[in-house]
Amino acid sequence: MLPRLLFFVGTRPEIIKAAPLFHALRKSSEVQVDLVHTGQHYDWNMSGVFIEELGLPAPLHHLGVGSGSQPFQVHKIIERAEEIVGTHLPDAILAVGDTNSTIAVAILSSKMDIPFIHIEAGLRSFDLTMPEEINRRVADHVASLNFAPTERAASNLLNEGYPPERTFVTGNTVVDAVLKMLPKARAQSKILKRLRIDPSKFLLTVTIHRRENADNPERLESIINALIELKEVQIVWPLHPRTKGSMEKADLLKRLYTARHIKVTDPLSYLDFLKLLDSSTVVATDSGGVQEEAATLKIPCVVLRDSTERPEIIDEGIGKMAGADDLRIKRYVRDFLYNEALIERVKRAPNPFGDGSASIRISEILLNWLEKEKIALSSPRFDSGAPTYAAFIVNEEMSGHTVQDVEKGLVKIVSIYREDGGFIRPRAELTLKARQIIRVLGEKPLMSEFRRAWNL
Ligand code: UD1
Ligand code: UDP
Repeated sequence: MLPRLLFFVGTRPEIIKAAPLFHALRKSSEVQVDLVHTGQHYDWNMSGVFIEELGLPAPLHHLGVGSGSQPFQVHKIIERAEEIVGTHLPDAILAVGDTNSTIAVAILSSKMDIPFIHIEAGLRSFDLTMPEEINRRVADHVASLNFAPTERAASNLLNEGYPPERTFVTGNTVVDAVLKMLPKARAQSKILKRLRIDPSKFLLTVTIHRRENADNPERLESIINALIELKEVQIVWPLHPRTKGSMEKADLLKRLYTARHIKVTDPLSYLDFLKLLDSSTVVATDSGGVQEEAATLKIPCVVLRDSTERPEIIDEGIGKMAGADDLRIKRYVRDFLYNEALIERVKRAPNPFGDGSASIRISEILLNWLEKEKIALSSPRFDSGAPTYAAFIVNEEMSGHTVQDVEKGLVKIVSIYREDGGFIRPRAELTLKARQIIRVLGEKPLMSEFRRAWNL
């Protein structure tokens, strides 16, 4: 019998990011994969349209969880998914990202002793007030395999003690989705016409839905003030239902509707949104997926957050952190409109989030793991009680040997730092160099043997 996978999705970005990997797995004759929808997002324009446009089949099960408090959503997903998982007893469960659906599925899988495979792992904003930061930390640490989009994301996992041999860097599947859907979006979407966009003018796309902005009227007002003053740009803002709700409550929508250069729309389909983003001069957003898509399409991005778990976009000069500060928003949007050097840098920046082959990489690694290595975690035996961490400077004797050789089966090298402080992900075949620092995990007696063996 073929191994069986259940791929859980719940929100708009999860559907988009799951699609390329789902298709890659479905193509394989070595595995059987089905989609399960938690129902966290349920409006047609937040869910169904993405399933349709990205060519996904109707989910095998729909949990119909809907909106509610965070504990309500997590509790209901776990309760309703338990029955389905119990019926199908999959060989592994997959989920993407950091939503309440993701954390619920991750916890459920680990409680049912079913390997959890986390896609888009290792992202960290280091802001523990963000619900997503909690979700991603929990999901990463209960996962049997973590697929990190970038080296930086992988380094977060390894620095937290997650095992290197179960961490893979693959790129983000959203890049695959963009590259696949872009030609269709360019050819088919009529969104520019529908919104009467003047191609001779600057175009700024805005999206906002993070709790820190959407549930904070002062921050929303400050962002709106900036947008209202950016009169030289046409602005399109597809409103997320959460943001719409809180703007209605705080009576903020009227000001937007009366600003002639701002067009507020319902959430757009993927093809329409991609076409809009692709045609934009700048994007201002607090969305994770939109930051990644901006990097892919080389559209300068003003990040409406005080921290981002996608700092790669700032490293590459594709984005600037503006928070909700109206002065900074205006300044950074204008920088990206008029400053040729900054615009040129964005155009030349490599895409830090991948090359469009993430799904292929993930499906190959996953299928290989299912075939050869899938072992439900077995209890280790530690004669000394438990292992401990230690750090050493690589000496001349170690230098030139591979990670695997250096370990000598005594300890595990869990992180490597270059002399300049940079992080290197340990891999069995990687060669160590003198003066690097290695962090190792091992039992005390074996650690002593390791030190003696290498004259440390
Ligand atoms: C959720 C995720 C967030 C992700 C975002 C993608 C969590 C904690 N948050 O945030 O990480 O970036 O999805 O968009 O999981 N609503 C509707 N129709 C819908 C869905 C939602 O009207 O189809 C409204 C409801 O009023 C609901 C509110 O939006 O209460 C918030 O929805 P929810 O799923 O709780 O969180 P998001 O803000 O969408
Ligand atoms: N998106 C869309 N229509 C819209 C707004 C966004 O299709 O009106 C897509 C966007 O292209 C990206 C994803 O939704 O792929 C991002 O979702 P969201 O911003 O809701 O969540 P996040 O990525 O922040 O978790």
